[in-house]
Amino acid sequence: MTGIHRRQFIGQVLSAFPAYALLAECATARAAVNRPSARWIAAQDDIARALAGGEISPAEWRAEVARLASAVDLPQLLAEIDGAESRYAGRALPSYPMKRMIRFRDGSGARRELRYATAWFGFAPDNVVTPHAHRHMVSAHLVVEGAFRVRNYDRVRDEVGTIVIRPSLDATIGVGEVSTISPDRDNIHWFVPRGGRAATFDVIVSGLDAGRPDYDIQAVDPVRGEPLADGTIRAPIIGFAEASRFYTPDI
Ligand SMILES: [Fe+2]
Repeated sequence: MTGIHRRQFIGQVLSAFPAYALLAECATARAAVNRPSARWIAAQDDIARALAGGEISPAEWRAEVARLASAVDLPQLLAEIDGAESRYAGRALPSYPMKRMIRFRDGSGARRELRYATAWFGFAPDNVVTPHAHRHMVSAHLVVEGAFRVRNYDRVRDEVGTIVIRPSLDATIGVGEVSTISPDRDNIHWFVPRGGRAATFDVIVSGLDAGRPDYDIQAVDPVRGEPLADGTIRAPIIGFAEASRFYTPDI
């Protein structure tokens, strides 16, 4: 499928959402495949493959992800997640949210082979995802419970032991809204729940740089970084344990 055809296909998927709501009398397996949430899962796969294949840019992927977030029937997607294979993946650190790896199934119960990974992050009110930078991947974080203060930074350049970053976003997002990152924009992110328990459903497309690791994640320290004259910050790369100690919910 060419990039244009793929984008047309994605558009058709999105514009077809309301029609699918009328297909209530299908056989069980067929209905499972045709549910809007199942089409959403397929559309995510389509844009993930298009991104990995170089047919769309990271910016186009982010725009499509935002469109999918605005089109999704969230209760139905949550039901889809509820019925998926779920593996408890623990907490990276005691202050981090609880992680579950999610694997969707098709109408016959078999695992769907998707170009993206999915995870559920359940936050207690005092959990924080500390500021960290990514390489070789993109991700999208759909808020499915509560609200978050999300801070992003662009990755300007790498130096020895530090990353020069530029603040790009400081916003509160709630249920149904999505936060995305890409290699070129908003690459560093930081999540603090606001007002109690909260959760995100994450889509991750890794392995985007041939010959490089699938992904790379580095904890950085913007708050104690060196402010530079052009508005950027020289942020030290720190350990995640140190990040967890310093980046409490009140920061
Ligand atoms: Fe991340």
